[in-house]
Amino acid sequence: MKNRYFLIGLLIITGSSCKKETSESSFEVFLPSNFPAPEYNLASNPVTPEGFELGKRLFYDPILSQDSTISCADCHISFSAFSHPDHVTSHGIRGQFGKRNAPAIQNLIWQRAFFWDGGVPDMDLISLNAIESPVEMDEDPANVIRKLNRNETYRRMFRAAFPSRDTIDGPQMMQAFSQFMAMLVSANSRYDKYIRAESGGTLTSQELSGMAIFRLKCSTCHQGDLFTDGAYRNNGILGDFTNDKGRYEVSSLPEDIGKFKTPSLRNVAVTQPYMHNGRFRTLESVMEHYASGVKVTPTLDQKLLENGMPGISLSDTEKQDLVAFLKTLTDESFIRDERFQQN
Ligand code: HEC
Ligand code: HEC
Repeated sequence: MKNRYFLIGLLIITGSSCKKETSESSFEVFLPSNFPAPEYNLASNPVTPEGFELGKRLFYDPILSQDSTISCADCHISFSAFSHPDHVTSHGIRGQFGKRNAPAIQNLIWQRAFFWDGGVPDMDLISLNAIESPVEMDEDPANVIRKLNRNETYRRMFRAAFPSRDTIDGPQMMQAFSQFMAMLVSANSRYDKYIRAESGGTLTSQELSGMAIFRLKCSTCHQGDLFTDGAYRNNGILGDFTNDKGRYEVSSLPEDIGKFKTPSLRNVAVTQPYMHNGRFRTLESVMEHYASGVKVTPTLDQKLLENGMPGISLSDTEKQDLVAFLKTLTDESFIRDERFQQN
């Protein structure tokens, strides 16, 4: 149960004050005009150059894992929108395999909850969950804080980012991570330029046709310009969810068995394999799934049962047009942004 981590997290964090830091030199978080208002309260943790650089250093540093072998960036790679390309599930510390595919890290400040089952309710708690996860870093956050306090570079960087505190504590580390992750905004794909009528925003007739089909047949779940409704749904990829019950693992409600958070489809052309369990290797196979592979179980989403037959009716041309449209969601400027890469 993910909420367990939340409690452990609160206990080990030794921060004496919850006072938030501010700085004159706030980094500008890109808030695209075609996005809604963020869910995360940026005013409570304003991004500063020092906080961002610190968060980035932590993200790329294996010091966070128990045996100092694994960094966040080993499973979240910038050129694939911070997903783990070609890994069905990620292998963490000591080569252990988790049961879920590492999702992209992008546009987090617009999300209400994190992980495939929404088990992490607050962006500031993500780093704790990753550190504690036995198949990811398997480390005690309190020990990470001790390691950081012993490190001269980190002492200097934390003082620069959070001048009012003497020693490094958990809340500072969580805030620094959030400052780095808040900056990971992807909204400059060709699709965005088309929507915002900016230069470079031309779509071919095939892509436009794909967009029309998408709006008709996919956007009830992959909604709006975030391409997700943030809800938990069963899209029929499995006939049996014994191995991973999804949202049920957080809610314990039988009606949530097999439901996973609708993923955003931004940068989806570079985040293969697909689905929570990395079941599909290509976008074409995802289209086949929706057209003819949907499995009926008690919690299958009603949207996928509408026409008497499970799934979404798609002709071969429609499948190709959809894939062409999904490829317009790739944001080269985001995946190549040097600010987000290791110094
Ligand atoms: C061993 C591989 C691995 C490592 C190391 C790792 N992650 Fe992840 N990450 C995953 C997987 C797998 C998931 C999906 C977990 C789930 O849904 O239960 C995930 C989920 C996430 C998400 C949720 C995205 C979303 O849209 O819900 C974020 C953000 C994230 N990780 C950030 C981090 C950070 C920060 C670190 C380092 C402190 C880190 N990860 C370390 C594999 C990894
Ligand atoms: C009933 C809601 C719903 C509808 C309708 C729907 N999807 Fe999905 N989609 C989901 C959910 C939920 C997942 C994740 C399921 C999982 O991993 O267990 C998903 C996953 C995906 C993925 C994999 C993304 C990734 O990062 O792994 C792609 C691609 C995708 N959908 C495309 C489409 C397209 C194209 C359509 C229309 C033909 C569509 N979806 C219709 C809910 C939906």
